[in-house]
Amino acid sequence: MRNANQIYLDHAATTKPYDEVVSLYTRMESEIYGNSSSIHGLGIEALSYLNKARESILKSLKLNKGYKVIFTSGATEANNLAIIGYCLKHQNRGKHIITSNVEHPSVLECFRYLEKLGFKVTYLKVNRNGVVDPSELEKAMTKETILVSLMSTNNEIGSMNDLSKLSQIVHAYPKAVFHSDTTQSVGKDNVDYSLLDMFVISGHKIHGLKGSGCLVLKDKIELEQRVFGGGQEDGLRSGTVPVSLCCSLAKSLQIIQAKISAEFELISKIHQQFLDEIKNVDGVELNSTSSSSPYILNFSLTKKKASVVVEALSNVGIYVSSVSACNSKKEASSYVVAALGKSDVLAHNTIRLSFGEDNNKEDALVFAREFNKIMENIR
Ligand SMILES: Cc1ncc(COP(=O)(O)O)c(C=O)c1O
Repeated sequence: MRNANQIYLDHAATTKPYDEVVSLYTRMESEIYGNSSSIHGLGIEALSYLNKARESILKSLKLNKGYKVIFTSGATEANNLAIIGYCLKHQNRGKHIITSNVEHPSVLECFRYLEKLGFKVTYLKVNRNGVVDPSELEKAMTKETILVSLMSTNNEIGSMNDLSKLSQIVHAYPKAVFHSDTTQSVGKDNVDYSLLDMFVISGHKIHGLKGSGCLVLKDKIELEQRVFGGGQEDGLRSGTVPVSLCCSLAKSLQIIQAKISAEFELISKIHQQFLDEIKNVDGVELNSTSSSSPYILNFSLTKKKASVVVEALSNVGIYVSSVSACNSKKEASSYVVAALGKSDVLAHNTIRLSFGEDNNKEDALVFAREFNKIMENIR
């Protein structure tokens, strides 16, 4: 249960773990504590839980045979493993790779690193809706392209790429694979994961535990290992496998995927209520569009400082975000909103509301009342 005096509107930053997930984790830590690499009974028991967690993840995503799961600490590590691991392994096939200019830093920084290693990178610009125009991808593809990484749902503004069209374009080039940072759509938007060669899950974004996550990839794809040691996780990520965390990830995914359609409908209604309250407030300019994910509503303030408004909202127990949680301490400007062609003032003053199952219609009314008060009272 959430605290009755607070309204949490920052689900894209992190979510409260499901009770079932926490109790599964604590029970497993005290009972199933064997090392899944040990060959004695406790180890074999742990390994069987680990294998079941892998199967359960693929089942929750409706993926039949042909995929494997590599457990990681979250989406950042999974994106790094997929992008850098793939490029280093297959650089003899070609050295051109493609991404977009609004990806999460855990993708963008991998491309910048690979650029330093000699890869040629195309950073596709997004259109005014924050999505990659498939014809732009088509123009950028070459016979040397080995990897394309384009996110499903943007974490700041909720814009959603057309994965079906994009994947079709990539797969017309036999040497190229399609990776997608699906962190913000798993458990929320209905994605056909079979369109993708590699994609990622972050546990704490789907009411799971921080420190849990995975990379899902086609069986036949080989990656260069990133962590050296005992060879766990298919030789890609050495280190004793945290079996309870892996099972907690499978559990949260199972719970959230089972109610994905009902929740999508509920969140869409809540989103609309917030939108109705906000859209006509003087000094508000929307950055999310009608085609964005309903889970995220992003706008800029034209006359006030977003950081001041975020702090004032926090003082009355309403938690929202200005730019993304990962960026907000480093820089006060949103490169995603700037990429939409918006002014510096707008990019510096963004507010993101991100919804979850603990929100309701009344939250929109309370938010609007407090937000209007703050907008009137602060300079
Ligand atoms: C789109 C996107 N990708 C990757 C990440 C990183 O996820 P994690 O915290 O699991 O490393 C985030 C987290 O904000 C995200 O929103």
